[in-house]
Amino acid sequence: MAGGVGAVLVLIGAGAALAGIFNTKHNLGSSGVNAASNFSGTEEICVFCHTPHGGDSTAAVPLWNRHLDPAGYQTYDQRGTTTLDANIEPIGSVSVACLSCHDGTQAMDSVINEPGSGADVWAFSQGRWRGQAAAVSGRIGPVTVITNLGKDLTNDHPIGVQFAGGGYAEANPAGPGRDRDFHAAESKVVGSTRIWWVNTSTEGGTADFEKSDMKLYTRVATRGAYAGEPQPFVECASCHDPHVDYNPTFLRINPAGSNVCLTCHNK
Ligand code: HEC
Ligand code: HEC
Ligand code: HEC
Ligand code: HEC
Repeated sequence: MAGGVGAVLVLIGAGAALAGIFNTKHNLGSSGVNAASNFSGTEEICVFCHTPHGGDSTAAVPLWNRHLDPAGYQTYDQRGTTTLDANIEPIGSVSVACLSCHDGTQAMDSVINEPGSGADVWAFSQGRWRGQAAAVSGRIGPVTVITNLGKDLTNDHPIGVQFAGGGYAEANPAGPGRDRDFHAAESKVVGSTRIWWVNTSTEGGTADFEKSDMKLYTRVATRGAYAGEPQPFVECASCHDPHVDYNPTFLRINPAGSNVCLTCHNK
């Protein structure tokens, strides 16, 4: 009978051990923690950010399923603090991917490749998915809500900022950086790219980057002493891993005791 089948399905659902992003605010589909106000058209999770085919390739981010638009941001250096001694690059790298939602300018369901057959130029012209009555702005609120950073990033921790005032580059991958107010970064060549990170003691060894280390992002600098060379930069995902469920604000490590800050800043 129908009731019995329903009960079995509920049990199967409850028994499935789903960890990680499933349990977070980054599950924007109908199975997410905010299901009532999320997008109802799919139970997929990754699709709101990644696509297996045809992603936006204008920045170095993995298979991005949303339009990346680096234009129109105000960056931290425009605040004019006299203590900032690192160069800030235009918005790019992984930060432009986070901001494709967190600046509040694009609907949550505005993706390049919807679930199912076909790519969707259509979705962009309509601002919504096929079969969806209206665009879903999701849970990113108006600019007065702090999760919506807006385009003015002068009141946010600097991003696109050189680590330790520069000093790390291919010629000198082990540093130290010019600015000794920072702890030393580790470095390694992975594939054809040199990467840097700052070790935390949370888990894993020190020889490799773990997701609980502070990741630095390799960008070719356009200004400063090492202009033209790949160097480490602090971006949104230096402090946050958008997939983890062990800290509610997606932080790579527990922020108690300001451990996040003290990993980089020698204070
Ligand atoms: C809310 C957006 C978002 C969602 C949803 C999301 N990702 Fe990601 N993902 C990102 C971002 C941003 C990066 C780049 C992060 C970085 O450079 O460390 C990334 C990087 C990755 C990477 C490469 C780096 C790594 O951590 O291994 C893989 C693989 C990946 N995602 C898989 C997935 C899968 C599988 C899903 C669905 C279960 C998923 N992601 C859902 C935003 C998302
Ligand atoms: C597909 C859109 C999307 C992308 C891309 C995305 N986010 Fe989110 N993010 C959300 C939504 C929606 C929420 C839930 C907002 C709410 O509930 O107010 C959220 C929540 C968060 C929160 C927790 C906010 C809180 O107050 O609990 C953090 C932190 C966060 N995102 C950081 C990031 C970072 C860093 C990146 C890139 C690495 C990223 N997000 C990429 C949509 C996105
Ligand atoms: C230097 C580290 C660092 C960087 C870089 C960083 N964040 Fe955060 N972010 C944090 C910490 C720490 C918190 C937790 C603040 C709290 O507990 O209120 C946080 C909180 C948030 C929140 C939740 C809002 C809140 O404060 O309650 C969002 C959304 C968010 N970050 C998005 C981003 C995005 C998008 C970027 C890039 C534009 C970014 N972050 C860059 C450290 C960082
Ligand atoms: C991944 C490394 C990293 C982490 C983690 C980090 N920072 Fe930073 N922070 C930097 C870099 C690099 C700069 C650029 C400063 C410079 O070179 O002068 C910076 C700049 C700043 C500034 C601005 C300095 C100025 O002169 O205007 C403040 C304030 C600051 N960080 C506070 C924090 C706090 C608070 C936290 C924890 C929530 C934190 N940072 C986490 C790397 C980091």
